[in-house]
Amino acid sequence: METLRKSEELNIRNAAFDNRLRPVDFDGFVGQKKVRDRLELAVKAAKERGESLDHVLFSGPPGLGKTTLSYILGAAMGVNVKTTSGPVITKPGDLAGLLTSLEPGDIVFIDEIHRMAKTVEEYLYSAMEDYSIDIMIDQGPNARSVRLELPRFTLVGATTRIGLIAAPLRARFGLVNRLDYYQPEDLSEIIERSAAKLGVDIDSGGALEIARRARGTPRIANNLLKRVRDYAQVKAGNFITAKVAEESLGLLEIDPNGLDDMDRRILETICVKFGGGPVGLSTIAVSVGEEADTVEEAYEPFLIMEGYLERTPKGRVATPLAWKRLGLEPVSRQGELGI
Ligand SMILES: Nc1ncnc2c1ncn2[C@@H]1O[C@H](COP(=O)(O)OP(=O)(O)O)[C@@H](O)[C@H]1O
Ligand SMILES: [Mg+2]
Repeated sequence: METLRKSEELNIRNAAFDNRLRPVDFDGFVGQKKVRDRLELAVKAAKERGESLDHVLFSGPPGLGKTTLSYILGAAMGVNVKTTSGPVITKPGDLAGLLTSLEPGDIVFIDEIHRMAKTVEEYLYSAMEDYSIDIMIDQGPNARSVRLELPRFTLVGATTRIGLIAAPLRARFGLVNRLDYYQPEDLSEIIERSAAKLGVDIDSGGALEIARRARGTPRIANNLLKRVRDYAQVKAGNFITAKVAEESLGLLEIDPNGLDDMDRRILETICVKFGGGPVGLSTIAVSVGEEADTVEEAYEPFLIMEGYLERTPKGRVATPLAWKRLGLEPVSRQGELGI
């Protein structure tokens, strides 16, 4: 039953965190149109049939709306959302405890589902497919397996590492959705809506200025907005224009291209320490003091999308743009030119 307590704790923490800015329905969820359309359709169809929603998997870098969408699905279906996360479910009993406490149609949200123990994952297969779970009770000569019937539930899984989801698990999700980085226009809209909720005035120039530095990520956009709001409140009559946003973000040393400290360290490692690459992922990770997985799934996609980095069979290579952003001359080009 410990799982339940932990998951309930997590539920409360998630609900408290950023509650005010988190959209509660599809209309409030900006961008990701394809994903949204697909989910809205699935919800409508399931409701018309009076069935539970198919299992849903969300993948993508942090801060793009995976948790938000899970709650939106719960609200749209009119069911409870029980939240837990992969690392918390360590034994089959944890999973059984969670699943037997559900009401029909409920959503179980497992965040970081790729971090669930492999021994538990196999129990999840039958739970997802047959809505039953066989667990062993007692030990030694009295050991026997007991089948627990489960209510029809919906599993919503979220992962930043789709590559670590085993094929049999992935295949059991009816709806697999990848969230991509947001365009500046979508981020601007999110920022304008958040500003309204926070009670600060903003014009479109101000919103775009913040959006440009948000690494395609709503969570970062909201965080930057909060900082700019402080500045606007104290120095600019609570009104955010492009100039106000630029001044305050400059004061906070936020990079105008949205690069954060870790992005810069990764690019510096490749350019300065390894002459522009190619250099292996694990070497980069050790150099910047971060886990290889995190570098690969949380930082690289943005650097690749923005054209700073390329993945090649021999390793990571910095592009001329990366050198430019760091204010450096590309040394590898000089090598090529025989200088
Ligand atoms: N499409 C969106 N529209 C509006 N706000 C969003 C959207 N996606 C994310 N957000 C905001 O960003 C924050 C982080 O989103 P979240 O769902 O927690 O990301 P993830 O679970 O993918 O890490 C949320 O609190 C919400 O305020
Ligand atoms: Mg989340």
